[in-house]
Amino acid sequence: MISVPLFLALVPLAAGELLAQFCGNGINFTANGTYQSNLASLAATLPSNVSSSPNLFATATAGGAPDTVYALALCRGDVTSATACGDCVAASFQNASRTCPMDRSATIFYDDCLLRFSGDGGFLAPPNITENATLFQYWNQENILGDAGVVAGNVRELLNETARAAATTARRFATGFMDASSVSIPTLYSLTQCTPDLTSGDCLACLRRLIDMMNSTTSVRVGGRILVLRCNLRFEKFVFYSGEPTLRVTPPGSSPAPDPITPIKRNKSKSVVIAAIVSPVAAVALCLIVCYCFRSRRFREGKRLQKRRSRRFQGEDELVWEMEGEISEFSVFDFHQVLVATDNFSEEKKLGEGGFGPVYKGLLSEGLEIAVKRLASHSGQGFIEFKNEVQLIAKLQHRNLVRLLGCCSQGEEKILVYEYLPNKSLDFYIFDAKRTALLDWNKRLAIIEGIAQGLLYLHKHSRLRVIHRDLKPSNILLDSEMNPKISDFGLAKIFSSNSNEGTTRRVAGTYGYMAPEYASEGHFSPKSDVFSFGVIILEIISGKRNASVHQCEDFINLLGYAWKLFAEERWLELVDASVVPNCQSSCMMRCINIALLCVQENAIDRPTMSDVVAMLTSESMVLDEPKHPAYFHVRVTNHDESSTYGTSSAKM
Ligand SMILES: *[C@@H]1O[C@H](CO)[C@@H](O)[C@H](O)[C@H]1NC(C)=O
Ligand SMILES: *[C@@H]1O[C@H](CO)[C@@H](O)[C@H](O)[C@H]1NC(C)=O
Ligand SMILES: *[C@@H]1O[C@H](CO)[C@@H](O)[C@H](O)[C@H]1NC(C)=O
Ligand SMILES: *[C@@H]1O[C@H](CO)[C@@H](O)[C@H](O)[C@H]1NC(C)=O
Ligand SMILES: *[C@@H]1O[C@H](CO)[C@@H](O)[C@H](O)[C@H]1NC(C)=O
Ligand SMILES: *[C@@H]1O[C@H](CO)[C@@H](O)[C@H](O)[C@H]1NC(C)=O
Ligand SMILES: *[C@@H]1O[C@H](CO)[C@@H](O)[C@H](O)[C@H]1NC(C)=O
Ligand SMILES: *[C@@H]1O[C@H](CO)[C@@H](O)[C@H](O)[C@H]1NC(C)=O
Repeated sequence: MISVPLFLALVPLAAGELLAQFCGNGINFTANGTYQSNLASLAATLPSNVSSSPNLFATATAGGAPDTVYALALCRGDVTSATACGDCVAASFQNASRTCPMDRSATIFYDDCLLRFSGDGGFLAPPNITENATLFQYWNQENILGDAGVVAGNVRELLNETARAAATTARRFATGFMDASSVSIPTLYSLTQCTPDLTSGDCLACLRRLIDMMNSTTSVRVGGRILVLRCNLRFEKFVFYSGEPTLRVTPPGSSPAPDPITPIKRNKSKSVVIAAIVSPVAAVALCLIVCYCFRSRRFREGKRLQKRRSRRFQGEDELVWEMEGEISEFSVFDFHQVLVATDNFSEEKKLGEGGFGPVYKGLLSEGLEIAVKRLASHSGQGFIEFKNEVQLIAKLQHRNLVRLLGCCSQGEEKILVYEYLPNKSLDFYIFDAKRTALLDWNKRLAIIEGIAQGLLYLHKHSRLRVIHRDLKPSNILLDSEMNPKISDFGLAKIFSSNSNEGTTRRVAGTYGYMAPEYASEGHFSPKSDVFSFGVIILEIISGKRNASVHQCEDFINLLGYAWKLFAEERWLELVDASVVPNCQSSCMMRCINIALLCVQENAIDRPTMSDVVAMLTSESMVLDEPKHPAYFHVRVTNHDESSTYGTSSAKM
């Protein structure tokens, strides 16, 4: 199994991956002594000092001799959220107290930050840029295909230039990329950073020393990192940093000097839609390419999938190791492995039929349950586009989004592997007379909030701007704790960060959930997802399908019915009978109000997902009166009830 590292996005309190820990030499402080309290006071204040510093860097001392504690912390230059930076430093202190208990000194490398503290301030000034005590290297096990000399030359050139760029900025941080597709080498992305207290010359020297540590083996790997306390570098075959790269490096021998600040997506023309339709088909096609591309690891907090963490480092005298690439966030599965996992796609293992093909439950040999979607067709985009797209999909990570674990392809077979969610999809519960009782008001509210968070992430907080375009209860899967996960990105559109709407001539989606401007003119925007979300809220609250008319008095659809009840202050009648007893009616009213705001006819009147989340979470926020909903008097029929692999009740 080859693993593709994925990037963490906004997971609260996540510090990224823990890379390495170096405890001191076992010189302990005494329990409850002054040193410990000095350390505690540093741990309390340093995180916010670092995150509020423009360079995301701070050094500090606390207490007087002999119990002075010296510390240094730095966040990665592209961590733009102050909370993420502060949380990472705080997590480092916590971690040090757990893994190096009582130790007077420790160095912790997280993906997003690094921390060192010690009773000996020698490491602060003058900075030692040649020490090996905190040296950490991690190399991907895969090699870049191609002429080894050319590849190594490119990698070094890229790192050299990125190092030079970092040394010349005040923040001592730079990211870059090199497109060497002219010589059939994949685009490589790089990052270099020094602690900003280094002089420009020291920073360059520190980074060059790391680059020089690369030998003929490591310089042809598809990714790697080298870190010491004072500087670090990383390169990968995928975009692992956020923000636009500082630098575009041209392959040696092609054309002159590096070209500053060129957007990565240069091939994607002027169009606002960068990656048009990210269909599962496209994802699979991407996988074909990714198959032999990536191998690395990355994990998130608390994921079942993660099997082993990085090996721990105790004692400052051990030096370097290669981490195994065994922890996967995204994997390329072997076809045989998928056959075994699904009993040769046996009928018994079939979970349902999604929009793009059947979905099977699978069991990997490690005991991990997966959902396997077997796609029918194949799309023929170019290499670079596909690669970019899979990278994009892979980067969508949020606890309210279903996770694509990997893919597999052999011959005509194109397979997507998702995390398996045992509780099926939302429609399985809310529209079923018996199962609906399993969802009390609080669960329903939690589901609504979860979907809102997932959508907010897609619209705003992910590194991309994504419009889902096919939100409906059968695409909301539920995990073992009934947390909702948005699934099926088959129709999703992805945008560059400064644009988020478009028009398509191929309107696809599900009637009953489609905003009027999308259904009639093909115009989609985050507001069209907001509309679908509003319909889902009403369905969750009422237990009725928008499309099923007969239960709604003389109203032709749920939206009109809900609006009328609301206007007549009879909204309690809308609420599913099985939830009434355990809810405060005012909170139900708010929820219905929010839903009705979302389904208003004019997109411009609808709230954004940030507004929705704010309204859901703040009870004191005054809500607008909803204008009448779309399809006020239109019959809605359900043409399509497909889902990613959530089996709707109809399919059971
Ligand atoms: C330091 O403290 C840790 C944890 O209490 C203990 O395991 C270790 O043996 C101590 N080391 C020394 C040198 O006392
Ligand atoms: C240190 O303080 C904690 C909490 O006040 C206490 O439980 C512990 O016994 C103390 N340890 C020593 C060695 O005094
Ligand atoms: C954090 O900043 C405040 C205000 O500048 C300062 O008083 C405090 O000493 C700093 N703390 C540390 C640990 O550097
Ligand atoms: C600290 O490191 C240990 C060992 O690698 C890990 O299990 C733990 O989750 C980490 N704690 C935090 C707060 O990151
Ligand atoms: C820096 O560290 C190296 C290796 O640990 C050591 O040999 C050297 O003396 C140190 N330099 C300074 C200036 O402390
Ligand atoms: C530090 O490690 C590098 C790479 O392993 C090695 O080449 C160098 O000699 C080491 N330096 C010191 C001072 O030990
Ligand atoms: C990178 O920079 C170092 C130091 O200036 C130089 O020796 C080396 O040749 C450069 N490598 C490439 C590939 O440009
Ligand atoms: C290259 O460097 C890596 C990591 O420092 C080391 O494990 C490996 O043995 C080296 N290979 C060669 C051929 O020197």
